[in-house]
Amino acid sequence: MKALVAFYSGTGNTAAVGRAIAKELGADVEEIETGSGKKPGFLSTGLSSFLNLKTGIAECSSDPAKYDLVVVGTPTYGGKMSAQIRSYIEANKACFPAKVAFFRVGGNVPGNGESVNRDMASLAGRQAVAAADFAEKEVKSGEYAKKAKEFAAKLK
Ligand SMILES: Cc1cc2nc3c(=O)[nH]c(=O)nc-3n(C[C@H](O)[C@H](O)[C@H](O)COP(=O)(O)O)c2cc1C
Repeated sequence: MKALVAFYSGTGNTAAVGRAIAKELGADVEEIETGSGKKPGFLSTGLSSFLNLKTGIAECSSDPAKYDLVVVGTPTYGGKMSAQIRSYIEANKACFPAKVAFFRVGGNVPGNGESVNRDMASLAGRQAVAAADFAEKEVKSGEYAKKAKEFAAKLK
């Protein structure tokens, strides 16, 4: 099975989880970058996400249509997916394969993981094969590696 793991990461946590999942799956990685190549500041990050805005992203290197599985991951900002991932899904959903999965990385605010993953699936117009929720503290402690392995196992 050919898999792609696509994610945006402001400060590296979602990237760490995305790369761990990709390693388990033997998948290609698409790290979504901003159009300017610079990470937006705190206020712009939080507001654009909270207001469900889209934003400019750099051209992607992988065509999702060439994969059997696409896994999309986002940080949580203002209780929602990042504007970069909203833009990525909107731009690419027509090319997503039937098999998609989602994960989100949040701070330590409980309760919005499920809705972030559900919103990504809804925006993509797909039912997720599986979804996973990671907390920043699990990334910092290294616990995420085991969870990433378990999540990847559900996707194989
Ligand atoms: C502007 C802003 C808003 C945030 N809002 C939330 C939130 O609503 N819920 C949550 O669980 N975490 C929130 N966080 C925490 C991030 O989701 C967390 O730091 C995550 O690990 C960032 O991932 P990244 O390193 O891939 O950017 C927020 C962080 C920032 C910078």
